[in-house]
Amino acid sequence: MQLMDLLKKRIEEDGTVLPGNVLKVDNFLNHQVDSLLMDKIGAEFARLFKDEKITKVVTVESSGIAPALTTAIHLGVPLIFARKHKSLTLTDNLYTASVYSYTKQVSNDISVDKRFLDANDRILIIDDFLANGQAVKGLLEIAKLANVSVAGIGIVIEKSFQKGHVLIEKSGIRLESLARIASLSDGKVTFVD
Ligand code: G4P
Ligand code: NA
Ligand code: NA
Repeated sequence: MQLMDLLKKRIEEDGTVLPGNVLKVDNFLNHQVDSLLMDKIGAEFARLFKDEKITKVVTVESSGIAPALTTAIHLGVPLIFARKHKSLTLTDNLYTASVYSYTKQVSNDISVDKRFLDANDRILIIDDFLANGQAVKGLLEIAKLANVSVAGIGIVIEKSFQKGHVLIEKSGIRLESLARIASLSDGKVTFVD
């Protein structure tokens, strides 16, 4: 079975829809991690972006790390995960962006140490979910601060009905989402197409 179909099937079988348009997938992605599925996901992102001369894969801790790591392994490049922290920390040696969470209604800073990105880098951004796109927006801000080029964005599960998809589309950056969800209404997962 193709990876995208495998992932859809897994979402249908093991995903549960929670109030507020939230898809709970904590038995294979967000808490327990299906390592073999993650490996296949990494292989698929690596295949999609193989000609892009990527030097590093970048995500945000914590749930992005699993798919980002397998992607980095398949591309043969390092993984960087931006760290979340409170705004008070000393930030001289860090590239920092503020990320607003609609779900939690708080802003958090995410940062990457300046030692780990430079102008020769061409990065691939990977994340587990795309909802409002604020995490990706923060990573794009960091990419700009670090003067690196962005080859694309790979998302495991996109909630296409929220703001993130359009936000990235407007930026013109290549977006590859492995599963695209059109709706979570009435407790039911409906995929795009
Ligand atoms: P966004 O703008 O970055 O797209 O996310 P948003 O603020 O809407 O969501 C906040 C957090 O909730 C993010 O994780 C995001 O990945 C996650 N999220 C959004 N929608 C869903 C969903 O339907 N199901 C699940 N399981 N997660 C969702 P985070 O708190 O920043 O990261 P982490 O600590 O979990 O890695
Ligand atoms: Na998450
Ligand atoms: Na995430």
